[in-house]
Amino acid sequence: MDKEGARTEHTCLLTLSLARELNQFPMESSFFQFLNQRECPELSDYLKRLNQVLQLSKETFKDAYSYGQILSKLWMVDALYGLLPRSRRYNVAIHGGWIGMTATLLFWRMNDLIEKIYSFDKDSRWAPIADELNKYYTADHWRFKSSTLDVLDLKEPTYEFVTHRHSGQEIRLKFQPDIVINSSCEHMEDFKGWYDALPTKTLLVLQSNNYFQGQGHINCALDYEEFALSTPMQDLFYEGVLDLDRYQRFLRIGIKK
Ligand SMILES: C[S@@+](CC[C@H](N)C(=O)[O-])C[C@H]1O[C@@H](n2cnc3c(N)ncnc32)[C@H](O)[C@@H]1O
Repeated sequence: MDKEGARTEHTCLLTLSLARELNQFPMESSFFQFLNQRECPELSDYLKRLNQVLQLSKETFKDAYSYGQILSKLWMVDALYGLLPRSRRYNVAIHGGWIGMTATLLFWRMNDLIEKIYSFDKDSRWAPIADELNKYYTADHWRFKSSTLDVLDLKEPTYEFVTHRHSGQEIRLKFQPDIVINSSCEHMEDFKGWYDALPTKTLLVLQSNNYFQGQGHINCALDYEEFALSTPMQDLFYEGVLDLDRYQRFLRIGIKK
């Protein structure tokens, strides 16, 4: 095995042991199997940053890296990858982007298809963590950047918003996404207002679930049909239901009506 291969294997073993220790993930856990199969040079950096996040909030780590969250995102990223024409690169906006895990998985899965990923969350605790976890891409001319704002305020096809440099300095940005991802639909107040304000013909990747007991879950759907009714599409490319232990996750990918 060459040096890079050895380093990747070492990183994966460390990641696996960290995960087992922290979350008692089963060995067959999909995320860590996935990590184990990837040859990402930035994996060891990622592991270091995971450790930092853990120091900040063990509960966040446990939730964000739980089996259901990871499996749901891998499913979503895989489904999107299967659909996207390979002829160009895409600007991606992630609404309710939390600690930036969807972005990480998108970069790992389809780096060549990604121009930029901008992540938006209204909770100001998450942007520094999302930037830190995706530092490899943030450092690369902000191919990844996380910003604190309410996505209900993003009503135009071209977003104009204020974000912050690592130093805290404010900077105004413009961004026109080709793809809008929201895997936090169950958390959104005024979901109808948000959906109606999205430009028609946007490629949407949407997830919700029927886990009504979840913290902050104010907009769950009873079943896939209810979710579909609240997210009308003119072209639907993918729809599906993922059965998890305690709930079902719903996924729709298509062009907004
Ligand atoms: C707990 S997290 C993510 C759960 C989800 N299943 C996932 O991992 O994609 C939900 C996030 O959505 C964010 N959020 C909810 N409504 C929002 C809004 N209107 N604008 C921006 N962020 C929002 C919350 O602040 C929170 O960080």
